[in-house]
Amino acid sequence: MIRLVFEHRGASVPAEAEAGARLLDVAQAAGMPLEGTCGGQLACATCHVVIAADWAGRLPPPGEAEEDMLDLVPAATRTSRLACQVRLTEALDGMVVRVT
Ligand code: FES
Repeated sequence: MIRLVFEHRGASVPAEAEAGARLLDVAQAAGMPLEGTCGGQLACATCHVVIAADWAGRLPPPGEAEEDMLDLVPAATRTSRLACQVRLTEALDGMVVRVT
């Protein structure tokens, strides 16, 4: 079981997930307001999240298409990701994810 913490508007919301789950699906199940409009087709960026800095390096780097979409997100930071592109692994147990 992978435990995550979502931070949104000053609240910390814990969540649990199985390995292989998409971060977007876990965030939505935890009540985070991520629309995920395109269903993970890298066409909307409504699944934008910011990974805590000390966790970001544990994720595989974003692909070129994900980076192109992140370029369109005004609130994007150095550790921004599209949650539809992140698959969870046991190595991410404890990760903190900020929802903007
Ligand atoms: S759900 Fe559309 S880019 Fe992630």
